[in-house]
Amino acid sequence: MFSYLLTLLLRIQMYLSKIEQNIRYALLNRKHGVYISKQAFIAKTANLQLNPGGLPLGGQIHISANASIMDGAILAPYGGSIYIGENVFIGPYCVIYGHGGLNIEKNTMIAAHSVVIPSNHGFSDREKTISSQPATSLGINIGEDVWIASGVRVLDGISIGKGCVIGAGAVVNKSLLDYSIAVGVPAKVIGQRGDLQKSSQNNKSDIAYTN
Ligand SMILES: CC(C)(COP(=O)(O)OP(=O)(O)OC[C@H]1O[C@@H](n2cnc3c(N)ncnc32)[C@H](O)[C@@H]1OP(=O)(O)O)[C@@H](O)C(=O)NCCC(=O)NCCS
Repeated sequence: MFSYLLTLLLRIQMYLSKIEQNIRYALLNRKHGVYISKQAFIAKTANLQLNPGGLPLGGQIHISANASIMDGAILAPYGGSIYIGENVFIGPYCVIYGHGGLNIEKNTMIAAHSVVIPSNHGFSDREKTISSQPATSLGINIGEDVWIASGVRVLDGISIGKGCVIGAGAVVNKSLLDYSIAVGVPAKVIGQRGDLQKSSQNNKSDIAYTN
């Protein structure tokens, strides 16, 4: 009898949380520019900000099927667009902006505390505050099946090719060819996925970037 009641309570709890999720997604999907697949997972504490700081910037957020946006992650398009492909994982406390456009293709994983911001402040004029100078926003593209480890920063204008691996703590300031393994600050390519031999420390800088 006790186990029956327990099973019943668990089922009710699951049912209620599914209803709660459906309502939450329906409310988010009512916002202009937002599309969230019913098959996506958005943690309750993830934050989809269309009007950060009360600024009515808008923009677009598209979250495809089976994507997961984990606790504390912030997605803010800042008037641009954030596209999250199928089966993409955005880890806890990532900060993902969309100013110049951000495209994350399917099966890519971005680990905890990573920051992807497709924009830079202008600062050439000393007589004006940095905050008053025009920003540039080129956009970022992250290919499919990429693993971005924890605490990585990806800068504006960067394209990360299909299948790349970016080591923990890296700052990616140059675009990477498909299947590159890159680590460090700034990120340097140390090899290619599938290579039998890893590149030695001495030839790290010989491996080409795309820009
Ligand atoms: C990038 C990574 C996958 C590389 O693993 P690997 O192929 O086994 O590489 P190795 O450990 O053999 O290291 C190769 C070289 O890169 C260096 N290196 C590896 N990871 C590095 C990092 N994150 N930052 C700086 N240098 C790094 C190593 O010191 C080594 O340099 P050396 O040849 O001069 O000794 C791994 O080091 C890493 O950063 N993992 C991320 C873990 C993480 O954040 N997990 C989150 C859970 S999703």
